[in-house]
Amino acid sequence: MASRQIMSVVYKSLVKPLLFRLEPEWAHELAIDALSILARTPGLPGWMKAWNQLPESSSSPIEAFGLSFPNRVGLAAGFDKNAVCWPAFEALGFGHVEIGTVTAKPQPGNPKPRMFRFPEQGALLNRMGFNNVGADAVAERLRELPGPGERGIPLGINIGKSKLVPLDEAVADYRHSFLTLADYADYLVVNVSSPNTPDLRKLQEESRLLDLLGELRRLNHERAEQADKQPIPILLKIAPDLSDPQLDAILGILMDLELAGIIATNTTMVREGIFETVDEVGGISGNPVESISTEVIARIYDRTEGRLPIIGVGGISSPDTAKRKIDAGATLVQIYTGMVYGGPFLAKRIARALAE
Ligand SMILES: Cc1cc2nc3c(=O)[nH]c(=O)nc-3n(C[C@H](O)[C@H](O)[C@H](O)COP(=O)(O)O)c2cc1C
Repeated sequence: MASRQIMSVVYKSLVKPLLFRLEPEWAHELAIDALSILARTPGLPGWMKAWNQLPESSSSPIEAFGLSFPNRVGLAAGFDKNAVCWPAFEALGFGHVEIGTVTAKPQPGNPKPRMFRFPEQGALLNRMGFNNVGADAVAERLRELPGPGERGIPLGINIGKSKLVPLDEAVADYRHSFLTLADYADYLVVNVSSPNTPDLRKLQEESRLLDLLGELRRLNHERAEQADKQPIPILLKIAPDLSDPQLDAILGILMDLELAGIIATNTTMVREGIFETVDEVGGISGNPVESISTEVIARIYDRTEGRLPIIGVGGISSPDTAKRKIDAGATLVQIYTGMVYGGPFLAKRIARALAE
């Protein structure tokens, strides 16, 4: 049996049953602690990275929005919100990591419990509410570590609106996060699609989105000119539950502003099957969002004639579900819920299958 299959069996038969006895957020924090230790243990990340790398024959880098990715599979936002363990994911064979969502102000998020497992459905429901230490603290953490161009894999930083900031002041709030974090990001994601921050998804409305992205684009170019650097790729992360006209309007703005790309999608608010009777507020991820987000990707690819790079995310749990996203038009993919159920070596398995 190949060593990665052994590790996968160890995860599923030993580690996962233990983690799944814990309350979901506790299990998550334990996983973060273990991965932080891995990342800081001298020699271990380098050894694991060598073990997890794709064979040279199948490892041509993927080029997207001016960056080079060692493979197509990344970690989705929300797992490492505070940038404490992301280097471990390079060691595990991920091709990129997106940290955050980070907000301008530190905030505790919603009251617990706020994360729920649905193992039979391969799903999670969460209403975390952007719990994070804030942009200044994350910047301080990243300042100590290798920066853009010095890392083995690209690091994306996902930014969102602080809960206490009214919608009309959202642009200034994002501006602070952008200016604080831009120096540390290989790419930056503007999150307007989490269902768990009141009014956040209203930023997907045409005029608000134009104001927000227009300002961030302006800042990005101004910063690049002053520092004599290239602007950073800025991507928008959208919800899966948009109507066709809403999606068209968003795509029009992204194309007009020449943004670098789009991340499709966040969690869904659509309740089908057993979720119709689940009495918990929050967004659903994993299997129930798989086909919904793949359809959104296909729509984006179709409407933009493939001119807007897409990172596909939502319900990827196997090489086949990842391939469906690539076939629909995604250049890169990300995973979160699939990793909770399938273990941390899922990325490598998918990356290898996609490369082959
Ligand atoms: C517990 C949890 C927390 C999340 N937090 C964030 C977040 O802070 N920012 C964000 O953009 N997406 C967040 N997401 C959404 C994921 O990045 C992803 O878009 C979504 O879960 C669909 O992918 P999946 O089915 O592979 O999980 C979160 C998802 C989960 C399950």
